[in-house]
Formats: sequence, structure tokens, C-alpha cells
Amino acid sequence: MNKEKKYVVIGNPIEHSLSPQLHSHWFKKNNIKATYEKKRLEDNNLENLILELKKNIIDGINVTVPFKKKVIKYLDKLSPEANDTQSVNTIYLDINGNIIGHNTDIVGFVSAINDTGFSLANKKVLILGAGGVVPSIVYGLNSLKVSEITIMNRTKQKSEELKKMFQNLKVIEWGDIPNFDLIINATSVGINKNDKLNLNFEKMGTNKFFYDVIYNPAKTDFLIKAKELGNQTENGKKMFLYQAAAAFEIWHGFKPELSDEIFDILDK
Ligand code: ATR
Repeated sequence: MNKEKKYVVIGNPIEHSLSPQLHSHWFKKNNIKATYEKKRLEDNNLENLILELKKNIIDGINVTVPFKKKVIKYLDKLSPEANDTQSVNTIYLDINGNIIGHNTDIVGFVSAINDTGFSLANKKVLILGAGGVVPSIVYGLNSLKVSEITIMNRTKQKSEELKKMFQNLKVIEWGDIPNFDLIINATSVGINKNDKLNLNFEKMGTNKFFYDVIYNPAKTDFLIKAKELGNQTENGKKMFLYQAAAAFEIWHGFKPELSDEIFDILDK
């Protein structure tokens, strides 16, 4: 008899995560004997949990804020994508018994953007925020051959840090509005229903593409204002879905189905 496999997503906070529902749905659909739980950890619990992979107590880990960088020192190897972004969201044990960290946020972002039909080649992009998800977005945008990536963050120094990792970034002051084709909200502003970015949306123009990494709530103030001003909008739901599907494929060896039922799970 095969042992029941065990997967976890770690973060802090973690209550909001929909990963357990998503993976559990795919387990059921594919008759996989496994569980997927969320675990709220503190920094000093990280190493012990990760070592459970070597003891075959757990079989895979997803990582979310604020641990995507912090887990790296406990891993044996990184995939090139995880190394280039210094960001890990999926961990597994390879056949040689090494703990590997990978980044599926990149493929999640790129697949989600490709689905919108918006061609990014030679386009100008403005990123708001410089938190944990931004290296993956910049890596993805570079692979899509955009012409320019400008970043602004409330704390400018964090943008400067990112520029050390991605030299092609253009850093500007929070509140300056340059010309752009795509704007990405990668701040946490919008997670709480009444959150509003202190930016002048009227200055941003129309017929542009506004992308929010946040998927819950589905419509942030950023997306609502963008739509009112006549822009194309998209939230982070598909990015979340595609990063989860890529993690599933790493752990189980095949792609899960992305059905309408899946979208219903995320709408809850
Ligand atoms: P972390 O910064 O720990 O990686 P995150 O959730 O990944 O956490 O990132 C939060 C992002 O939202 C940061 O870019 C943060 O800006 P600061 O670096 O200045 O903290 C941004 N953010 C949070 N609240 C904000 C607000 N009220 N206005 C603008 N940006 C905000």
C-alpha cells in the first residue's frame, strides 16, 4: 500500500490561502491519496519543517509571504528560475534525496498574461511595489521582451535593491506617473476591501492594461477605477491558478485539468 502523501503551504499569515482547496480538488479528480494543509509558521520553525521532506513525513511544500526568500538557506539546490529571482514557492525532494527549491510564480504570471491576449513585446510596463512577488514578475516580463520596466515603491530603497538583481529596471519616486502600456499592482494594497492606493489615476490615461496580482477580493479599488476610466483589467486569479498547476505537475508528474470548477473554487 502506498502511504498517503502530505503537502503543505507555509506562510504568515496563511488563513487566506486557497491552495488547499485547489490541490485537494485535483487529488480527488485524479484519485491521488494525499492531503494538503496550510501551516502558519514563524522563522524559527522553517528548517524543521523543510527537513521533514528528507524524513518522508511530507512530500512537497508551497511557500508564500514572507518566506519565499527565507527558505533558501535550508535548501540543497535551486532551479535557475528560483536562483535568478532568489524566490522559492515550490519545494520537493529529487530522486537523489536533495531538497530542491523552484519558482512557479514566473510561469504562473507569464501564462496568465498570455491568456489575456495582450502582447507585451516592446511594451512599457510600470510596476507598483517591490515586495516578494516582484522578482518573479520582472523575470517573466523580461522573458516576454518588454521594452521598458519602471518600478515605484513607497519605500524607494527596496526598488534600488531590486535593481541590483535586475539592472534593466528604471526606479522612480512613488507618485510619479510615467507613460506605460501595462501597469501592475504588486503592492498589498487592495487585500482589505477599503484599501486605496494614493495615486492619481486620472493622470494615467485610457486604453491601457491594468493588472492586479491580488485575486481575493476579485475587484480591488485599483481595478475598479481602471475600468471606470476605460482600461482593460485582469486580477491575479489565473496567475495563482497556473502557479499551483505547475507545482502540482512537479509533484505528481502530470498537468492537472484547469476546468470551470476550478474557477468556481477560487470565486468563493
Ligand atoms: P514584503 O514587503 O514583506 O515583501 P509584500 O506583501 O510582498 O511584503 O509587499 C508589500 C508591498 O506593498 C511592498 O512593496 C509595500 O511597500 P513598502 O516596501 O513601502 O512597505 C507595498 N505597500 C504596502 N502598503 C502600502 C501602501 N499603503 N501604499 C503603497 N505601498 C504599500
